[in-house]
Amino acid sequence: MSAVVEAGPDGDGIRLDVRMVVAPCAGIFRPAPAGDVTTEAELVVAGTVLGWVEGPGMQAEVASFCRGFLVRMLAQPGERVRAGQPLAWVHPADAVVPRAVAPDPLRLRPTLPARFLGIGGHVPDRRLTNDDLAQELDTTDSWIVERTGIHARRVAGPTDTTTELAACAARRALADADLDADQVDLVVVATATPDSACPSTASRVAAALGIQAGGFDLNAACCGFVHALHTAIALASDGSVSTVLVIGVDRFTTLVDPADRNTAVLFGDGAGAVVVGSTTGTPGGCGILGSELGGSPAPRVLEVPPGAPHLRMDGPELYRRATRALAASGRGALEVAGASPSDVDLWIPHQANARIISAAAERLGIEEGRVVVDVAERANTSAASVPLALASARADGRLVDGAIILLSAVGAGLDWTSLLLRWGR
Ligand SMILES: CC(C)(COP(=O)(O)OP(=O)(O)OC[C@H]1O[C@@H](n2cnc3c(N)ncnc32)[C@H](O)[C@@H]1OP(=O)(O)O)[C@@H](O)C(=O)NCCC(=O)NCCS
Repeated sequence: MSAVVEAGPDGDGIRLDVRMVVAPCAGIFRPAPAGDVTTEAELVVAGTVLGWVEGPGMQAEVASFCRGFLVRMLAQPGERVRAGQPLAWVHPADAVVPRAVAPDPLRLRPTLPARFLGIGGHVPDRRLTNDDLAQELDTTDSWIVERTGIHARRVAGPTDTTTELAACAARRALADADLDADQVDLVVVATATPDSACPSTASRVAAALGIQAGGFDLNAACCGFVHALHTAIALASDGSVSTVLVIGVDRFTTLVDPADRNTAVLFGDGAGAVVVGSTTGTPGGCGILGSELGGSPAPRVLEVPPGAPHLRMDGPELYRRATRALAASGRGALEVAGASPSDVDLWIPHQANARIISAAAERLGIEEGRVVVDVAERANTSAASVPLALASARADGRLVDGAIILLSAVGAGLDWTSLLLRWGR
């Protein structure tokens, strides 16, 4: 098996750095079983078997040489191939991940130091149960609970604007941090459902709270908060700002067709916030220990098509991909930090579905007791799900200063990201 660095177009015509997996010998190409790894945009790791080349009296394995995603299989099942012939394109995830192995005495040390000063969460008052939904839709409480672990969700009313939800969570986070609004230097808001295109939700929240600082929004749907936290920590640790208010907020129920049982049962509304502070590096060594971010441009398993009022989702395919992506990106962030699953005190994944979380936790090698599952009463709150789960973990006494926590998110398109943090003030 050998690899050649190549640049080529992917399925959408976007140019990617790709590597070719080539035939180790001449023979007949047999791909791995359908539904395993031969689907485009599938996640692979080093050693993942893509197929075999069968020669006279021998069978040579064709395997990925790196972690990333499979852009395209290039050989047909049963095709006669020659030695060195390209069989698959793989886009390596490692290509964009800076590698750093933590030195002693704190074995795991932050590459981006920061302090986590406060957390706050807020959900709307209106609680919609599965039985409530079953009155309007062809569904049942037992179907939803069994498939998702969701019992109820909170739904925004007319006064629960995105700004209002975000401002409530932010007030709580600032009170938890014992900080006044005028001590905030920057507001970063992750949302896919802003009240308006402009000004940003960050600007609206700043005005609502009396914060005399700028800010910006970013949108990566369910991955948004983890990207926003990553960005905030990077800005705080390079000295650009001292105190950043990071908010994840969404009213995803506004994006679902209430008559579509495939999606209407899955989502809820809410907001969560974290206050990040700069540090020159403390004895506690808090901040980012490792990270991984990635995404797959195709196929689109969850999207709001341009001009469409509601989101469309391929539920079973998303389930399969989300499970793999959560585990793979979590492993990626651990590898960057030189850590292993046993180093993680608490895994806080995106709260889409209890079954996805449990299957991904098993793949990742983190047992139930170290996983936060916060989906039963909230459903999937998109960008708010990770900070709301952080707030729950803190309230339960599971999130303590010094803890090593892994945040992982996966969402629309399909994007994924993980941050390994040492938590603490
Ligand atoms: C959506 C999801 C719960 C469906 O569960 P599933 O185990 O894959 O469902 P199954 O394949 O067993 O069953 C699908 C059937 O249930 C039906 N179904 C879908 N939603 C239903 C509901 N709310 N109530 C009853 N039946 C429902 C479908 O129409 C389908 O019927 P069919 O087989 O007659 O076509 C699951 O695929 C999932 O969680 N996907 C990920 C969704 C997600 O998390 N999205 C956001 C990610 S950020």
